[in-house]
Amino acid sequence: MTAPNAPHLRPASTRSPRRIPSQSALRLRHLTYPLRGRTRGTDSLLDVRHRVLTSSGRAALAIAFKALGLGPNDRVLVPAYHCPAVTGPVAWIGASVDLYRVTPDFEADLADLAKKVTRDTKALVLIHYFGLPRRTRQVREFCDAAGIALIEDCAHTLHGSSDAGRVGTVGDFAIASLTKFFTVFDGGLLASASRPLDAVHLVAPPLGYQLKAAYRAIDREGSQREGIMSPARFARAARSLFPPRLSIESPAAADGGSDFDAEWVLRAPAAFTGWTIQWTDLLTAGDARRIGFQRLAEALGANRKLTLPFRELPGDAWPYVLPVLVERGHEVAQQLRARGIPVFQWDRSPTGDCEVAARYAKSLLQVPCHQGLSHADFDAIVAGFAATT
Ligand SMILES: Cc1ncc(COP(=O)(O)O)c(C=O)c1O
Repeated sequence: MTAPNAPHLRPASTRSPRRIPSQSALRLRHLTYPLRGRTRGTDSLLDVRHRVLTSSGRAALAIAFKALGLGPNDRVLVPAYHCPAVTGPVAWIGASVDLYRVTPDFEADLADLAKKVTRDTKALVLIHYFGLPRRTRQVREFCDAAGIALIEDCAHTLHGSSDAGRVGTVGDFAIASLTKFFTVFDGGLLASASRPLDAVHLVAPPLGYQLKAAYRAIDREGSQREGIMSPARFARAARSLFPPRLSIESPAAADGGSDFDAEWVLRAPAAFTGWTIQWTDLLTAGDARRIGFQRLAEALGANRKLTLPFRELPGDAWPYVLPVLVERGHEVAQQLRARGIPVFQWDRSPTGDCEVAARYAKSLLQVPCHQGLSHADFDAIVAGFAATT
């Protein structure tokens, strides 16, 4: 593998973002999120040798590109079926995106990769869609032969195995999106099995943001569990301390958007995020997701208007969503959302010359199987599809 080594990653003065705290602010390292607790020994991405918590998955991608020394004239291979948040970091570093084709079973199309790689290509992003690990062996070999870096996009997965090893350990870097797994307001992860990340220095966000992130996370948790001493009650009390006019900036990722905000690249996530992920029972959450996925696959598989690309889970994968193909995808998604069912669709991303991606962008809905969903929630999802398809 010949990709360049990580340069120093202090904020570059030319890109100095608007509201990054001064250099005297605490660094992530000094805040120490040691990732011990329940994350140890889980064989998850949080267990990979080198890792840094970031403000979001897209910030982790941006830092990986920076670590690779990418800049203008460089090109990055991105799968044609992708989340719109993936390309923002490429533009931020000044490089260009080349979309490569994916096969109907969501693997990288190796023949197309061979056509799309150029002398200026420096990195390839491989997405482990939906939390179902994709094949990595041949893609790794392709990257090695081409002398480019492989970045595993594990935004949808913290755990599972591909044909070349555990997800997140095959690439030069891997990124994850913590808000998709944990009940946190912000957070991403940059990990590498082979490259130390000591050069990555992130600054702590300001105190106001720390408080906001804590109560928004508690509020999220509380909306799943109401009781006398519920976190939701605490969050409501905390919210009343913040006058509505006091607006505290947060990363787009935390607010559910897909924009890229440069000012958050070199910021650490809220301390509350570090603390939460340390103490979340990962194995139980992973199991609950597997059960939720199977339950949805069985119930939605019986709906004749739907096609399921995956009905079975690979042995040790912790899924994020169940992918479902449906005609009039956009319309169905809107109707489901109107019923309070949060389905995702990547219908705004360009798909290049990939017919498969164009079809998926139109007709693929991603249905959550989050560990926080109740029996009633699953029933509502199934009933929602029955009513809208
Ligand atoms: C495949 C994929 N990669 C990267 C990201 C970015 O993660 P984040 O929202 O934490 O920035 C997302 C989600 O937005 C995603 O779905």
